[in-house]
Amino acid sequence: MGVRITGWGTAVPDRIVTNDELSLTLDTSDQWITERTGIRERRIGGSAMTLGTLAGERALADAGLSTSDIDFLVLATTTPDRIAPATAPMIANAMGLTCPAMDVNAACAGFMYALRTAQGLLETGNKKILVIGAEHLSRWVDWTDRNMAVLLADGAGAAVLEYDPDGTDLLSFSLGADGSAADLLTCEHGGFFEMDGKEVFRRAVRVVVSSAEEALKEAGITADDLALVIPHQANLRIIQAATQRLGIEMSRAVVVLDRYGNTSSASIPLAFADARDNGRVKAGDYALLTGFGAGMTWASAVVKWSR
Ligand code: UT7
Repeated sequence: MGVRITGWGTAVPDRIVTNDELSLTLDTSDQWITERTGIRERRIGGSAMTLGTLAGERALADAGLSTSDIDFLVLATTTPDRIAPATAPMIANAMGLTCPAMDVNAACAGFMYALRTAQGLLETGNKKILVIGAEHLSRWVDWTDRNMAVLLADGAGAAVLEYDPDGTDLLSFSLGADGSAADLLTCEHGGFFEMDGKEVFRRAVRVVVSSAEEALKEAGITADDLALVIPHQANLRIIQAATQRLGIEMSRAVVVLDRYGNTSSASIPLAFADARDNGRVKAGDYALLTGFGAGMTWASAVVKWSR
């Protein structure tokens, strides 16, 4: 059973907020944010629906498909525009899709969970699926709280997955969830994101490494075989610590958090698109996609690009 990833698209708001701009209203500095997180600026604006729609349209165009070709829309989002309805049907309507559409919330591992869900949907008869990760995190940030305000941002990324009986790009998955850690990173109804940053950091490195090792083993390759690592973009130090433990040089990791901050479900497709724009995605190469977040949830996958 095969899944081909045939198109990608992204969308970010035009509005750039630099660390210096945040320092005007918060007790923080460009130096602290850059040194502790790697983030230099982020994009703020839009909504899960508007950003997700644009990314979805671009992915469809990239795959050379039209709206009537898509059998299912899976949207990964932690920040749906409303509790009900889900945001996916609104994106489907805005795009002119008439297929089933649903949201998946696995926080920053959301795009990976959505890919896994789409893989299952392809196994049960669907032929073409649009997977979108879209976030409007800035809406749920207390802009007087320097702990979260310097980290979270808005954006969207999308991929088209197509059934192919002759081969697959998705070689393996390792997913997990540990609800006993649920209180480490939360956003209550009507509230704002709050996090025990240090503990989330520690656990993030641990689960990225263990799930990556499992996914590599299941794919039958080693870390040395990887051309690229496309990690969730939460903190440069997390990416450095995890790649070091996996024995992967940082030059093989894709980093876009300096420009986009932490965009949760959107961060992996944003990083992929950046790698492709820079000629780093080549047919036949292996890549590790890995994410982690509130829940806690985590997910790693090994991909072999066919195009
Ligand atoms: O996306 C999924 C999940 N998210 C993550 O994976 C994020 C994981 N956690 C992290 O990335 C890091 O823990 C943070 C970036 C959130 C924080 O970095 P840290 O190195 O763990 O800093 P800290 O919380 O230990 O704070 C160090 C100091 C503290 O001051 P004292 O107690 O040493 O005087 C903080 O009050 O830095 C202070 N601080 C700040 N200073 C300037 C905390 N936030 C800021 C800030 N600007 N924005």
